Amino acid sequence: MRSAAQFKNHPIHPMLIPFPIAFLIGGTVADFVGTIGNRPGWSIGASYPLIAGVVTALLAAVPGAVDYFVTVPPNSSGRKRATKHAIVNVSAVVIFIIAIALKSWPPREASAIGLALDVIGACALTFGGWLGGTLVNRNFISVDHRYANAGKWKEVHVAQSAAQSPEGAAVAKADELKVDQMKLIRLDDGTRIALARTEQGYRAFDDRCTHRGGSLADGVLICGRVQCLWHGSQFDCSSGEVRAGPAKEPITTYRVEERDGEIRLILHA
Ligand code: FES
Repeated sequence: MRSAAQFKNHPIHPMLIPFPIAFLIGGTVADFVGTIGNRPGWSIGASYPLIAGVVTALLAAVPGAVDYFVTVPPNSSGRKRATKHAIVNVSAVVIFIIAIALKSWPPREASAIGLALDVIGACALTFGGWLGGTLVNRNFISVDHRYANAGKWKEVHVAQSAAQSPEGAAVAKADELKVDQMKLIRLDDGTRIALARTEQGYRAFDDRCTHRGGSLADGVLICGRVQCLWHGSQFDCSSGEVRAGPAKEPITTYRVEERDGEIRLILHA
């Protein structure tokens, strides 16, 4: 799913994380060499990349937090993984801050405790990176993928009250999507609904895959079926029924109508 924190369609969080990784691991190595190799200059100098690492980690956390709250599908296995990723990385930064504080200012050589904290922080950072990599490689967070005729990622924010009115809410122009293209509708209460144009017309259904919460608007649409990219479940866009597992529960479908050249989502009972 395309990152919400992006610049010219390039996700910002992955652009920034090499800096804290390089500084914090580099500082740890310098501390290690300085202490074990009896080179005090290395250990004293290690404080500077460690400080730079903490500052750049905090900067990288900002677009990461935006993606956590906006891009990662709520109530999903990806969200749980993203929570772990955030906790582990914030813990690593706190550990490095304590290690830096123990060296005082101007910096002294690292103590045994400070060195141990460096190593623990570096291990936590590595584990956090592994979780982050899984979020990208398996959950497609910040991946703006394309398949035949899928078009570009589209989304629209809509007031829930408008969608619940008898007229419904306008969510797309009638010719906005081509057949087999989708669009994510975000309601202001956090609900996510996928709008899909099939050969039979427009359809709307829960964006959340009933298996582990993958985004269906980020999936693949073909022949009236939508496939979740996380583990391959397929659903009928009209009835919501499962056409292929591992999902077992159907998805909820919603009413859409074309009126005056607009597609309207109608949640009114
Ligand atoms: S989350 Fe597993 S198939 Fe959709």
